[in-house]
Order: sequence, then structure tokens, then C-alpha cells
Amino acid sequence: MDFWTVRGGKKLYGACRVQGSKNASLPILAASVLAGGETELTNVPRLRDIDAALRILRHLGCRAEQEGNRLYIDARGLVHSSVPESLMHEMRSSVIFMGALLARCGEVRLSPPGGCRLGKRPIDLHLKALRQLGAEVEEKDGEILCRAAKLRGTTIRLPFPSVGATENAMLAACAAEGETVIEGAAREPEIGALQDYLNRMGGSVRGAGTGRIVVSPGRPGGPVRFAVQPDRIAAATLACACAAAGGEVELTDAEPAHFSTVLHFLKDAGCDIITKQRCLTVRSDGRLRAVGPITTEPYPGFPTDAQPVLMAALLRAEGVTRIRETIFENRFRQVPELRKLGADIRLDGQNAEIRGVARLHGAALEATDLRGGAAMLVAGLAAEGETRIRDEGHIARGYERFDRVLSALGAEVRRTDS
Ligand code: UD1
Repeated sequence: MDFWTVRGGKKLYGACRVQGSKNASLPILAASVLAGGETELTNVPRLRDIDAALRILRHLGCRAEQEGNRLYIDARGLVHSSVPESLMHEMRSSVIFMGALLARCGEVRLSPPGGCRLGKRPIDLHLKALRQLGAEVEEKDGEILCRAAKLRGTTIRLPFPSVGATENAMLAACAAEGETVIEGAAREPEIGALQDYLNRMGGSVRGAGTGRIVVSPGRPGGPVRFAVQPDRIAAATLACACAAAGGEVELTDAEPAHFSTVLHFLKDAGCDIITKQRCLTVRSDGRLRAVGPITTEPYPGFPTDAQPVLMAALLRAEGVTRIRETIFENRFRQVPELRKLGADIRLDGQNAEIRGVARLHGAALEATDLRGGAAMLVAGLAAEGETRIRDEGHIARGYERFDRVLSALGAEVRRTDS
């Protein structure tokens, strides 16, 4: 259990390097088993979800070593094609091993993945895509078994641009005979990272960033060295923290174009945002105005992962901000906790209405999920007095040494384990 203690009211000043992307690293770790060679990854954040992926790789028989932000994987020794339930439950991205193992071994057995409880989070689109590629998929006794003597290229039409389903389809398609076209594909920057990694391995994938991805025959083969892109949600969280607390923060090694929708609203709220190529400065006097309406959408729309942290930044903004969540049905779990700080938030189904209050006060909170927990930290920075967040490990799943990062900017934040 982690306990986070935040003493609010301190402005944030200084420069801070953005961590590598969690959501880009995890599918790449799954993809590393595909070709059975060696991979060296740099800029991998040290996170609980990354540790969970490494445990899966080791269980499969791969060598997986982490040294700082560098990771070395040798997938030549892979001996298993199944992932036990205990490992699957640790995070959502474990599901991406399904496409990768199917491609490598022709079969895979696993149970449904864990991750934040943001709603139903089905995997029907993943399974449908694998079936279309020629896999037999059986769901029995809480387990999923996929088998394919041969995968065949085809056209897969995703009715919704699911990030995970797109990744699984890309990976399985790498082992298919003939060309695969994924129509209605997710366009998130993490899809581009996976494409680049597969191509670096010798695969032939194009179209990432558009709704149409084409995977041509040619199973990738290592070895490969790859640098992970900056984490757009961690960067957005830091920008929201500065907006809420006030101050001036420079984010280096950032990719501002990947979260321009978040920056757009921070600008509207009254922050000065200066972007250079891989660098971004956020300046805020801590007195924001309401913005919006904000609607979460698949990329390039406003990211659902940034919704809780932007909400937290706007709790004291003058006026009324309306947020509509369209991706997950249960993504307002932070709201009852934020209310304990004095926030005025009304919920009506998938809609939230935030009426800016003059001040927030510290309180004892419970982190509900990864981004919800981060939102509580952001709000705590802008609250008077002490906020204490009891967290069963959610925040450390996605933010690397976040207590140190915020403290280095002048915040009073402490994290203790118990
Ligand atoms: C990924 C990200 C997550 C982000 C989300 C949306 C990772 C590890 N996670 O999650 O941080 O919030 O994208 O940008 O990269 N859906 C179905 N059937 C499916 C798959 C998805 O109905 O088979 C629905 C989900 O219930 C949800 C929506 O599609 O409503 C989005 O899901 P998806 O894009 O798949 O998100 P994840 O890959 O789980």
C-alpha cells in the first residue's frame, strides 16, 4: 500500500524530463516475443505495469532484464504459449500477448486481463479480429484458447477504433500469409510506436496514424534497438499539475503534438503554453477559467486518460466546465474523492459538470484507479492544507517516481509504503 501526502499551496517551478511512454512500452514488450530474437529498449519507464510485463516474459522462458530505463529481452528461449491467470490479472496490456504468442507459437492460452476497473472493458473486438485471421477461439472455464495452424491475411473492419484490438490484429497479422488490412484502426501515437518497432525488426507494416493499417507478409526477425517515445499522459498530468498549482514548468523530452488537445484547453483556461519541438513550457498564475465543453474521444480527440487530471486542474476555475466521457462508462470514479476536497462536481451519467470553487481543502482520499489517483495528486497540489491519498499501488503503475518528480518542482509531496 502506498500513502501519498501532499501539502498544497506551493507553486511549481523548474524543468522536468517526461518519462517514456507506458502505453507504448507494453505492447512492444509483448511484440518482442514475436520474432524470437533480441531487443534492446531505451527510455522504458520503471513502473509496476512494466514489472508485470517482465514477469510474463520470464514466465514464457524469455530473458528479460531492466537496468535503469534500458531493457534487454532475449525471446529465443521461449518455451510456453500460455500466461497464468495471476500474471494476466496484473494489468490490461497483458492481453496483447495474445496476438504476439499466436503469431509466434500458433496457439495461446490465457485468461481475461486485469487493469483499471473503468467499466466493462470487453475483448470481443480482439477475438473477432483473430478469428478473421483464421484463428479458432474458444472461451471455456474463464480461459481463452486461440489456435491457428495457419493465419491468413484478410480485411478486418473494427466497428470502434480499439487501441488493444488494433495492436493484437497487427501482431497476429505479422505471421499471416498474404496481406492484412485493418480498417477503422486506432490512430493513437502508441500504434505508431508499435509499427515502428515491428518494421525495425524487419516487418512490413504501414498506415499507423491513419484509420487504415496494412500488414504485408514477412514475419519480423530481431535483433532490434528501439527508443520508446515520451509518455503523453504523464506529460499532460504534469502540465495540469502546473496549471492547478500555478508556477512555470518546462517539460523536456516531450512530444507536445501528442497531447495538443489537452494543451488547447489549458490555454483556454488561461495558461501560457509555449511549445518548441520536443519541449514545452506551461505558465499559470493558478487562477483559471472554465473551458469546454470537453468530450473524450479516440485519438486525435481528447484522451480519456487525461480527463481525470484536467478535471482536477479545473476544480477552482471560474465558471462551469462540462465534460462528457464517451470511451469508458466508469471513468468518473475520482469524483466522490475530489468532492471531499470541497469540489463542486455534478454527475449525470456520462456527463460531469464542474462549478469552480474559490478554494479546496485537504482531506483523506482513496485512489480509485491510475489516472483517478493522479487527479487526486493534482487537486491536492491546489488544496489548502494536507491531502493524504491511500493507494493500493495504482499511481505507481503509470507514473515513474512521481513523488520525486513533483518534489523537484517544489511541491511538498511524500510517498510512503506500508
Ligand atoms: C488503451 C489504453 C488506455 C486508454 C484506452 C483508450 C493501454 C494499456 N491502455 O486501452 O490507457 O484509456 O486505450 O485510449 O494502452 N472495446 C470493446 N471491445 C473490445 C475492445 C474495446 O467494446 O474488444 C471498447 C472498450 O470497452 C472501451 C473502448 O472500446 O469502451 C476503448 O477501448 P480500447 O481502445 O480497446 O482501450 P484499451 O486498449 O483497453
